[in-house]
Amino acid sequence: MSADLTCKYMGMTLPSPLIAGSCAFTQSVEHILEMEKAGAGAVVLKSIFEEQISNEAYQSMESAGDYGDTRAIDYVRQYTEMAAYEKYNQLIRELKKNVRIPVIASIHCHRDGDWADFAQRVQEAGADALELNLNLMSADPKMTGEELEKQYVEIIRHIKKNLRIPLAVKTNRYFTSFVNSMLKLRKAGADALVLFQRMYEPDIDVEQMKITAAKVLKEGDGFNEALRWVSIMDGNIDCSLSATSGVVTGEDAVKLLLAGADTFQIATVLYTRGIQQISVILDGIRDWMGRHGYGSIGDFQGKLSMRCIDNPEVYMRMQFMKYFAGIE
Ligand SMILES: Cc1cc2nc3c(=O)[nH]c(=O)nc-3n(C[C@H](O)[C@H](O)[C@H](O)COP(=O)(O)O)c2cc1C
Repeated sequence: MSADLTCKYMGMTLPSPLIAGSCAFTQSVEHILEMEKAGAGAVVLKSIFEEQISNEAYQSMESAGDYGDTRAIDYVRQYTEMAAYEKYNQLIRELKKNVRIPVIASIHCHRDGDWADFAQRVQEAGADALELNLNLMSADPKMTGEELEKQYVEIIRHIKKNLRIPLAVKTNRYFTSFVNSMLKLRKAGADALVLFQRMYEPDIDVEQMKITAAKVLKEGDGFNEALRWVSIMDGNIDCSLSATSGVVTGEDAVKLLLAGADTFQIATVLYTRGIQQISVILDGIRDWMGRHGYGSIGDFQGKLSMRCIDNPEVYMRMQFMKYFAGIE
């Protein structure tokens, strides 16, 4: 029996559940064509960042040499924003002419505002869906969790207002009551949750006595936390779930699908093992399906999610004590 890897994600039909996640590989037509050929089911483009646009605007203002005239600054900002948008939309248009798999645009934002307009523009350029990379963080002691959550909801509502294509929200796990918060994002308009975003992490160089960036490319990073929360969400929410954290092998992918993920995304292994790892992962899934007698993804997807198992508390365990008592 040959394994059918077709699956559904936010109402779209994908040839496989493997999505090339947002990273530098997903900003070139050439790489995306190669990933499609290797079997990727969809691609999430490299995010367009708020900072990227602000920075371009700032550089142009500097070269304009005019900081005093706010009209000039507004003009330059608008112009440079349009240039960044246009470059991005050009990539979408080019991809739509050349690839068959769904193209998911990605916006990285942390404030409400002009982004809503941009969402419409990627839609007009032909993007099949939009992934919103939404990571708000507060170090303000006066800010409550509820207020922060409200900001997430407002941004999603704003973006969703004029959007016809599906919207995925990629976020972190720093919510006090994770399931409750995710239900609010769903109600605000999220058609999928992408768990979890890889966060920028600080480190310290003790010799130079300065703050540095932690290592970015860590294979396997965050895998088990994604597994836990995908499984818990599968029993609690009625939207698509995409797992992204630490997938290296076909076995990792099978675990996430068993836990209830509709799709999974990869980024780090594209850097550490190359685009050919896509075929390795998909062959690993096919091989496992063959050995277990499954013909399609739907035959086993979610079989080990919290919703389906007899002892759902296994996913809720957080204390080590009992299990590690014997380890020296
Ligand atoms: C070098 C690099 C660049 C990334 N750039 C983005 C980005 O622009 N937008 C985004 O949403 N995620 C970005 N990510 C996060 C990935 O899409 C992915 O969610 C995360 O790395 C976890 O998957 P992984 O363990 O397979 O890397 C980036 C990851 C890496 C390693």
